[in-house]
Amino acid sequence: MKQKITKAVFPVAGMGSRFLPATKATAKEMLPVVDKPLIQYAVEEAVAAGITDMVFITGRNKRAIEDHFDKAYELEATLEAQGKTELLRLVQSVVPRHVNCIYIRQAEPLGLGHAVLCAKPVIQDEPFAVILADDLIDGTPPIVKQMVDVFSKHQCSILGVQDVPRAHTKQYGIVSSTNLEMNVERVHGIVEKPKPEVAPSTLAVVGRYILTPRIFHHLENVQPGAGGEIQLTDGIAELVKEEQLLAYRFSGTRYDCGSKLGYLQAQVAFGLKHHELRQDFAAYLQTVS
Ligand code: G1P
Repeated sequence: MKQKITKAVFPVAGMGSRFLPATKATAKEMLPVVDKPLIQYAVEEAVAAGITDMVFITGRNKRAIEDHFDKAYELEATLEAQGKTELLRLVQSVVPRHVNCIYIRQAEPLGLGHAVLCAKPVIQDEPFAVILADDLIDGTPPIVKQMVDVFSKHQCSILGVQDVPRAHTKQYGIVSSTNLEMNVERVHGIVEKPKPEVAPSTLAVVGRYILTPRIFHHLENVQPGAGGEIQLTDGIAELVKEEQLLAYRFSGTRYDCGSKLGYLQAQVAFGLKHHELRQDFAAYLQTVS
């Protein structure tokens, strides 16, 4: 029987140190691109792929994420009393009614692999998606939907990848692979943040994964790796020794919103697409260069 992806894991417990002081009292995933927080783009991407259970792995200072996807009684009552129906509709549609939000607290920042492992009690024995909200990817159809389509054909773990400059390999999980079909690679190995001179390729994992539940077994057993953390990449490196693993070259533009430059680039790109802003913003950009 073909399996379906109904659950997505959002690791959101990171400190966001690159955006201090903005992230001193709130989550980096709540930083807005134009008028929507990064985490909402990520959840909308999951919803567009047919995913109904959103599992957030949170930490300290992350309450704003729970509040964002909750009902906001006072705000809604005020907007209603003021007759601001458009805004009321906007606030109420942050998350569709059929979607469940589940929060698990990661008590210690032990790494991305550990964060994903925290989702095991909810995911149990199903394949699932992992979405890193600070990789904002603009694609049609949205990237997770593209990957779910590849999953429905191959029924195995899939990594979202793109080519990066060789000098940047030390920022990513890098795969070694051979081509299988159009935009799909068969992965033979993966390493976390290799130096350019030893990187097996320039094909980098960028914040989108579909994983089989077997990953939990490996995450329970891997030793701390790069940066002393339990790395998701190290778990995947073990998974590929026993299961088929594919890498999918998605079509879309990715903004690294974990970096200030990428975040500013996203503001410009999404500002130029925004239905209310695009003309005025484009005109403004003409005046600065
Ligand atoms: C994480 C992963 C890395 C991946 C990257 C994508 O690194 O560990 O394998 O390539 O996300 O953004 P981080 O950016 O959290 O250091």
